Amino acid sequence: MYRKVLRDNINIKKNKGLYRYYFENSRPVGCFPKASYDTYGEAIVWCSNDYLNMSHNNKVIDASINGCKKYGVGSGGTRNISGNTSSVMNVERAISKFHGKSDALIFNSGYSANSGSLCSLGKAFNDSIFFSDKDNHASLIDGIRRSGREKKIFNHNDICHLESLLKEQPLERKKIIVFESIYSMDGSTAPIPRIVDLAKRYNAFTYVDEIHAVGLYGKGGRGLCNMYNCEKDVDVIQAGFGKAFGTSGGYIASDKEVIDSIRLCAEPFIFTTSTSPVIAEATLESIKQIESFDEQRRKMKFNVRYMKSALIKNGFTVMNDEETHIIPVFVGDPFLCRQISNDLLNNFKHYVQPINFPTVPKWSERLRITPTYKHSRSMIDKLVLEMIQVFKNNNVKLN
Ligand SMILES: Cc1ncc(COP(=O)(O)O)c(C=O)c1O
Repeated sequence: MYRKVLRDNINIKKNKGLYRYYFENSRPVGCFPKASYDTYGEAIVWCSNDYLNMSHNNKVIDASINGCKKYGVGSGGTRNISGNTSSVMNVERAISKFHGKSDALIFNSGYSANSGSLCSLGKAFNDSIFFSDKDNHASLIDGIRRSGREKKIFNHNDICHLESLLKEQPLERKKIIVFESIYSMDGSTAPIPRIVDLAKRYNAFTYVDEIHAVGLYGKGGRGLCNMYNCEKDVDVIQAGFGKAFGTSGGYIASDKEVIDSIRLCAEPFIFTTSTSPVIAEATLESIKQIESFDEQRRKMKFNVRYMKSALIKNGFTVMNDEETHIIPVFVGDPFLCRQISNDLLNNFKHYVQPINFPTVPKWSERLRITPTYKHSRSMIDKLVLEMIQVFKNNNVKLN
């Protein structure tokens, strides 16, 4: 009986085009942006979050090997048992300095950083209310939900809507505005200075997820708050190491009182084995390296511009006109989106991830393309040409 229920649920997902396929691949050092897929052979990856290929950076790899030889593989426990290692603490010191904040806390993933921090903040602020952007990531939604506090959703990046919702609340009520600096599935950017201004006027606390912006924007890759000169005005900056930093883990940076109160009650921080010294030492090196990657950031921006204009010139619907590195190409149907992705991989050895519901709303299914500094112009030209062919073969009209 139990197996049948599960089988039926899986079949429902398959019939609705919602089933998730996880393609096995290996990413040998030196091959980026290519990867090997068991069934398909070598392909160019167009959707990796390893934006600066830091995961293959020699100095980062050496730091992880040295960390392993010096301190072993595991941290030995949760943070309050024996896992409060100097390797982990050094990452916290480095990342708080990176964001110009007085303290930081690292988690095992960006997901648990958001889920744990927002839940703790909601609980700490009695009778608080969250204001959450409609396109916020699942981890932000999860943290808000677990806090049990009231939540109002404002239309994506809609400052007027946010203000109208803030206005409805008494000035003295505790309000937490939660948003991303770069939205992961469409590359749009938040109007951070205007949100900060609203927060000041309406007595609100601000929490921003910068996970897709750190490493790529702002001085030395410090993110969009830095770029807009708003680092001091945003109460909590959250981000992670699994994207541009090339390792894994998540963090928050803020002032000492905020960090201390989250450290005291965030379950995903407390009740888990702390980050391995292998990862912590690699991350520390990556933070050092990333500051000097201006040339790589410049090249990436050039590739983004080049690719976007080629896509638009050839009639593809690019779902935002901002110059960020996340390029969403509209398809609008879950089966078609997967089919196009499969055809690109099978026939032309391009891996472009299909993004379907619930990651994005139904009928806004898309391909998410993230060109990096290591994709060449000829790779981009080839992808666009072959996308034209695949879209046409699947009877998708180009503009
Ligand atoms: C906006 C955003 N926040 C948080 C996360 C979670 O980060 P992690 O993969 O480190 O758990 C992601 C993951 O892709 C994300 O896109």
